[in-house]
Amino acid sequence: MKNYIPIAIIAFFFFSCSSKEEILQQQYAVEGMALYKTHCENCHQADGSGLRDLYPSINKSNISPEALTCLMRNGKKGNGFMPANAKLQGLDLAELVTYMRDKWGGNKQIYPIDSVQIALKNCN
Ligand code: HEC
Repeated sequence: MKNYIPIAIIAFFFFSCSSKEEILQQQYAVEGMALYKTHCENCHQADGSGLRDLYPSINKSNISPEALTCLMRNGKKGNGFMPANAKLQGLDLAELVTYMRDKWGGNKQIYPIDSVQIALKNCN
């Protein structure tokens, strides 16, 4: 029995180190899902498929994370109109991008707040 304890300790550190990034990514994605429900779902629907001609589908979009960040903050006026959302702060935007690219792009990388801030400085 004694011999198992060091192995358990090593295993604990091994797994806790290798999955720290993954755990954070999962936290972002879960928070992002809640934010998506509050701020996006009414128009674009839970599965991102949009609503007829009113709201475009966004689940197959290949929009860059930078452009998506700017769009969520500043809105967009083309044929339709998407309102700006000044309530979304850096962390919110990071979580939203992390959620959407995980869910619809299978991309398990976190989109960091630093990248959000850089993107927001360069919106056109
Ligand atoms: C009030 C309804 C509404 C809400 C809320 C809304 N959108 Fe939009 N969204 C639109 C409309 C309308 C357009 C198309 C704008 C245009 O015609 O240029 C759009 C466009 C987009 C596009 C670009 C689609 C494309 O292919 O050009 C993306 C991506 C997007 N929205 C994501 C989001 C996300 C993420 C949120 C939540 C943070 C959100 N939207 C909230 C109505 C909405």
